[in-house]
Amino acid sequence: MDWKDLESRYYHPAFRRLPVTLVRGQGTRVWDDEGKSYLDFAAGIAVSTLGHGDPELCRAVSQQVETLAHTSNLFYTTPQLEVAQRLVENSDLDRVFFVNSGGEAGETCIKIARKWGKANRTGAYEVITTDHSFHGRTLATTAATGTVAYQEPFAPMPDGFTQVPFNDLGAIEDSISDKTAAVMVEPMQGEGGMWPADVGYIRGLRRLCDAEGVLLIFDEVQTGVGRTGSLFAYEQFDVVPDVIALAKGLGGGLPIGAVLSSESASVLVPGDHGSTFGGNPVACAAARVVLDRVTDESFLQDVVAKGEYVMSRLRTRASKGLGITDVRGLGLMIGFDMESEDAADQVVSRARDNGLLLIKAGAATLRIVPPLTVTRDELEQGLEAIDVARGV
Ligand SMILES: Cc1ncc(COP(=O)(O)O)c(C=O)c1O
Repeated sequence: MDWKDLESRYYHPAFRRLPVTLVRGQGTRVWDDEGKSYLDFAAGIAVSTLGHGDPELCRAVSQQVETLAHTSNLFYTTPQLEVAQRLVENSDLDRVFFVNSGGEAGETCIKIARKWGKANRTGAYEVITTDHSFHGRTLATTAATGTVAYQEPFAPMPDGFTQVPFNDLGAIEDSISDKTAAVMVEPMQGEGGMWPADVGYIRGLRRLCDAEGVLLIFDEVQTGVGRTGSLFAYEQFDVVPDVIALAKGLGGGLPIGAVLSSESASVLVPGDHGSTFGGNPVACAAARVVLDRVTDESFLQDVVAKGEYVMSRLRTRASKGLGITDVRGLGLMIGFDMESEDAADQVVSRARDNGLLLIKAGAATLRIVPPLTVTRDELEQGLEAIDVARGV
């Protein structure tokens, strides 16, 4: 039986999968089951921070899996505590809680906001989020995400979420009430179309949350761990949130998420929350390697330079009116718009035929989120493949 037949026989038909079965990866390249190679500008949806098969990461993971693969959080383990230490020492936040995914990280942020609201804001529990945000697929993060299509099949949604337009400080100001425990935003929206937040908006949010006495939560699941050219995107806005959600790139391909919080938002005590796998030693062995690499200033400077290179090349194409209508991004989290959904779909499938994996973020927006270790040559090859796919 073909692998696609296996899926249709045994798996929930819940994904619109691209017609490729990937079997192997090395650096920025992946190979399918027919031996065709692709440049991977998708990186497992902005995950494979150090590319595929990074020797140091592979060694750390295989040594850890041979030594001790799992313990649960009933015991101390050193990889977990070393990752917690690295996250705190390289951020402006004070404490960490480990989970397994972005959705779980968002869920943990919401639980922190609710518990904090009970203790500090006379039972406030509401979380204000923004239109076109994406926070995950658990029930609460689906309610936080506020895309009706994601919610409808599972209605009724949990209570306590309000969405307002993104990059609109006045809209948040108008929505804050005595029920509000927190405001949660992505510093750059990913799934919602690759929209960086305005600096003034983020600084205004910090001032507003301070004045109103509510928590400011950044969902850095996609923007965190060097993706935008700083370890955390919040650094680029000169604003420190009270709570941050991380996942995706943290494990360089191993499933791990984390929530960082300031001391005053670190409200979880025994019995409040938990996770069997969160901060598992194998995932943490990978995260330790990733963090040691991405906290290097020259590594981050290179991410910024490579991102600027790609964006300037795309902007040149946009200025010639060659089908690209807008280019946006921070570091190696880059989006560009095509004039229509059809045109964007065509670029994705033609690029794939030409050996480049690209994914969309919204109807007509294409996303460039390669491994952060991508070389300039590979970026150039990818841009050329995009040109061929656009028929120019
Ligand atoms: C900003 C943001 N938050 C949360 C999530 C959910 O992460 P996961 O799919 O790991 O649950 C995503 C996934 O795309 C995301 O981009």
